[in-house]
Formats: sequence, C-alpha cells, structure tokens
Amino acid sequence: MLHLSRPPDAAAQEVTFTRDIAPIVFKSCVSCHRQGGPAPFSLTTYDEVRRRATQIATVTKSRFMPPWKVEPRVSHFVGQDPLTDAQIASLAAWATNGAPQGDPAALPPVPQLPAGWLLGQPDLIVKPTKAFTLQAQPTDAFRIFAIRLPVTKRTYVRGIEFHPGNARVVHHANIRIDRTPATRQLDDADPLPGYDGLMPRSAEYPDGHFVGWTPGQVAPLVGPDLAWTLEPGSDLVVQLHLQPSGAVEEVLPEIGLYFSNRPPTRTPTILRLGSQSIEIPPGDARYVIRDAYTLPVDADLLAIQPHAHYRAREIRGMALFPDGTSRLVMHITDWDFRWQHVYREVTPIPLPKGTRLSMEYTYDNSAENVRNPQLPPAKVYWGQRSNDEMGDLWFQLLATNDRDRELMREQITTKMTVEDIAGYETMLRVDPRDAELHDDVALLYMSVGQMPQAVRHFEASVALKPDSAAAHFNLGTVLAQAGRLDDATAAFRAALARRRDYALAHNNLGQVLLAQGKTGEALKHLQEAVRLDEANPQALFGLAEAYAASGSFDLAIETIDRAIKLPMPQALATRVVARRDEYLRRRP
Ligand code: HEC
Repeated sequence: MLHLSRPPDAAAQEVTFTRDIAPIVFKSCVSCHRQGGPAPFSLTTYDEVRRRATQIATVTKSRFMPPWKVEPRVSHFVGQDPLTDAQIASLAAWATNGAPQGDPAALPPVPQLPAGWLLGQPDLIVKPTKAFTLQAQPTDAFRIFAIRLPVTKRTYVRGIEFHPGNARVVHHANIRIDRTPATRQLDDADPLPGYDGLMPRSAEYPDGHFVGWTPGQVAPLVGPDLAWTLEPGSDLVVQLHLQPSGAVEEVLPEIGLYFSNRPPTRTPTILRLGSQSIEIPPGDARYVIRDAYTLPVDADLLAIQPHAHYRAREIRGMALFPDGTSRLVMHITDWDFRWQHVYREVTPIPLPKGTRLSMEYTYDNSAENVRNPQLPPAKVYWGQRSNDEMGDLWFQLLATNDRDRELMREQITTKMTVEDIAGYETMLRVDPRDAELHDDVALLYMSVGQMPQAVRHFEASVALKPDSAAAHFNLGTVLAQAGRLDDATAAFRAALARRRDYALAHNNLGQVLLAQGKTGEALKHLQEAVRLDEANPQALFGLAEAYAASGSFDLAIETIDRAIKLPMPQALATRVVARRDEYLRRRP
C-alpha cells in the first residue's frame, strides 16, 4: 500500500490580499500612497490595490517601488527597507492569480499615520507669503522662494519638517539658509511668488547639515549637541522641483522648524566631491568624472547625498582606508534625478585619518538613454539648470574635536572653491559675455589669493560694461591687492568719473594714495568718503591715518575716536586701538 503524503492545501497556498498582500502594502507603501500622502494615488483598500495589481507587480519587480536607489548591500541607511525577494514573488503571484481578496476578517488594520507634523508640533512654522500658480505646462518647473524667518536672536535648530502643500506637483525640495539678502533680492525682483533661476552662492547648507526633502523622507531631529545655528536676519531658501499635473495647480509649501534651547557642542563639516568641468560629447555613452579627498584627521561619516541631473547612470562613492582595505559607501546603478535622497547612516562609519574618499560617476549622453532630455543628443556642459549636467557627492563628516574640524574645514573650503572656479570657467566657455559670471569668478579667485586671474576677469567685466562704476571699482580693488597701485588709482578714478558720490571708491582711492605717500590728495578723498558715509570705520581709520601722516595728530585722534564707536571686525578694532596709542605717543 502506498503512503502518499497529503497534497498541498490549495487554500493555504493561494496568495490573498487580506493575508499576504495587505501586510506588505501597509508596511512598505502606504506611508506615501495614502490620502494626503506624497504619492499620486492611495493604496489603502483592497479595491485600490486590486485595480493596480499588475502595475504593482511590475514596479516592485524592477525595484522602482518603493523608491530607494542605492544598492542594498552598501550600508545600512535610515529608512532603508527594501522588499524581500519573497515579498516581490507574492505580489507577482497575486496579480497573476487575479488578485483574490481572501477572508475580509483577516485584514490587518490600515496603519494610521499621525495627521499633521510627524516630528511633533514645530517651534516655528513658515511658508512663502503667497502661493505660486503652476500652469498646465508640458515641462517641469523649478521655483525658488526666499522665506523670511522671524527670528530675532541666535537660534539653534534640531531639524525641519517639510510639507509640500501640493503633493501632486511638488516632486522634491532643496533647502538652504541665506544669511545675506541675495536670494531675497532675486525673489523680490520677480513679480510672482518665488523666482526661476539659480540659487546664489550665499544660500548654503547650514553648519554642516543637509536639509531637503524627497517624498516620504522625514529626517529625524538631531540631538541638541549637533543642532545648527540660525543667525537673525537669515532667510530660508526653498527650491521646488515641480512636475505639472495637466491642470493649473496652487503650490504653497510649509516648513516646520524645531529648536534647541542650548548651543551645540559639535558641528559637522560638509565635503563636496565632484567635477564642474563636465563637458560631455553628444553620443558618448560612458563619460566618467572622478574626484577624491584624503582626510587630514579622524572623522565619522554621518550621511551622504549624491546629486546629478538626467544623464547620470552609475554613481559610486568609495572609502579607501589607510590599512589598504576599502568599502563602497554609495552605489547607485540606475540613477534617477527624481529621487534626490539624503542617505543617513544608521551607525556612523569611522574614517581614520588618511582615509581617501572618492567618487566616480558615469553618464550616458547617447540616444539610447531613455532619460536623456535632449534628442538628438547635444553637447552638455556643467551647469545648474536641469538640462546641464552636475556630478556631486556630498559627505557629512564629524571630526573628533574643534581643532581637527577647523583644519579639515579650511582644506575642504579651498578644495571646493577651486572646483567652483572650474564651474565658472565652464559656464564662461558657454557664455563668455556674461559680466556677472566674470565678477563672481573674480571674487572666488581673490578668496584663494589668485590675483592675476581675478584681475583678468574684472578686466573682462569692465570691457563688457564700461559704464559701470562698480566694475571699475572692483578692478581697482583687486589691482590694489595685487600691488599694482598706479593701475589701481586709474581704475578708482574711472569709477568716480562715472559716479561722483561713490563713497567706497573715494575711500579705496584715498587708501592707495596714502600708501603711495600722496598725503594731500589722499586726505581729500578720505574726507569725501567720510562725508558720504559716516558709519564706515575703514574710511574713518583711513582719514585718521592721513591726518597723522600730515602731522595733524589732534585731528587724527578725534577721527579715530569716531571710528572706535562703530561696530567693526575684531582684527580691525585691534589695529585701530594700537594706532590710537601711537598717535598719542607721537603727538608733539
Ligand atoms: C517614499 C514614498 C513612496 C513609497 C514608500 C512608495 N511609493 Fe509608489 N510612488 C511614489 C511616488 C511619488 C510616485 C509617483 C511617481 C514618481 O514620482 O516617480 C509613485 C508611483 C507609484 C506607481 C506608479 C508607477 C508609474 O509607472 O506610474 C506604482 C504602481 C507604485 N508607486 C506602487 C508602489 C508600491 C507597490 C509601493 C510599496 C511596495 C510603493 N509604491 C511605495 C512614492 C512612493
């Protein structure tokens, strides 16, 4: 007699919604796919999921959903929760079998996400003064808002929560802090809410922290020891990537800020690796950029953010340790511009001094790349517009102590400035007649002490806008710093010929004449500078020096006393006080 085992129980094998599918969807999908969530439709009921069963099987098999671009074995990041192969197989089997419901009583409860702010009630909620109206246009839009922060004293921030306001069209948000009025001026100059263009350089990540938003990502609050500092008068800068829905849409995002009541004890540093010399020939399917930096001190890697536009395909970040071992810290094989996540390590990765961090990005500018926005492909340069290309890998690093941090920060600032300069030179290759670009890159050259290049670009700017007093003034200032005093005086005189009441030009011309020993003429310009702007300590100090040089010590002391009453940088204050003592000694 045969002892057959029992045949498999068909009912137990059949994949049903209530028993098998709902737990997967509720855990991995409804955080975005719910009423009011950031995904375009909701997946909270049997009917909603059944209607899309086949599409769900497809997008989970390709791992397009849930959206998580980084390869699973790289690191363990906050929020990383890929579907298992078994879950993907269940979704596929369920779709193939006609998406049966199963026993309605077995349905697990739909997870209830807290309505409103996921991180709790914010200490401050801000939004743009007016909603932006997105037209039913065919192409994506980018809109930058400068939001004034009603903060009257230095404030410490543990994090922010971003609400898109209109999840149908807001795809992601870049967020920065601008301590200067630069972004606000651009926003104010545009009659509509926000403006379309580039973020100024002064819009920066705050104190070594990433802030930003992609659908479904809410960065946890940092501990008070790591909070970032918000100076009064700063603006919150929000750049929205908008994908039109086919209808006219109102867009009004809201941002909640969470404060800490004490100053932080540690500040991370942001390192940007990448290239701004990108120039991809049309048709090139394997264009590669690389960059690297060797850590001068021990540091922990806290988080990492890749950034590129549409043509990037593969993204790699590596750490090569001093003992010769290495590991991938970032790897994306199918880059998608639309998922600009910040990847935060669950456990920070210790990077000993001497660790070499590197990046390598590969671009496909051929017609085969389905994401190529230009067909037939054209030559592509580095640039911040979405049709240009970028390639950055940002690292958030935490040094062990303040001294190490300063050492690393200085090196990194110089390294990044050199790359920013390369970016301006790339943009100038495309558009050599843009005077603003010449001005901006000249200032960067000055900041790294490369005066001849700064002179070259300010000269180009003067040639492009010969009537601009400011252009001649800038040229004079850099010539003076380069030690070319005669040329500098000529440039300042050219500035004054175009604007007689230019206080700073009188001041700088006076200072140069003083250095040349032309005391009488210097006195005249410095008096004029002070007359035009009584609150400039530099001008008062210069005038005092001119009085002293002509032997009028009483006038020199009287003038320097006016300067001392004004706010000024510490280094200048020290010099001013020392000079006053000297005038007193030399006074006959
Ligand atoms: C982090 C938020 C998020 C999560 C989690 C998420 N989705 Fe999505 N999903 C989106 C967004 C946003 C879109 C809109 C498409 C886009 O913007 O790329 C989308 C689109 C889709 C689409 C339409 C794709 C297309 O080609 O139009 C399907 C199907 C889908 N999601 C299924 C799922 C499933 C199934 C899960 C869970 C296994 C899931 N999603 C998890 C945000 C999310």
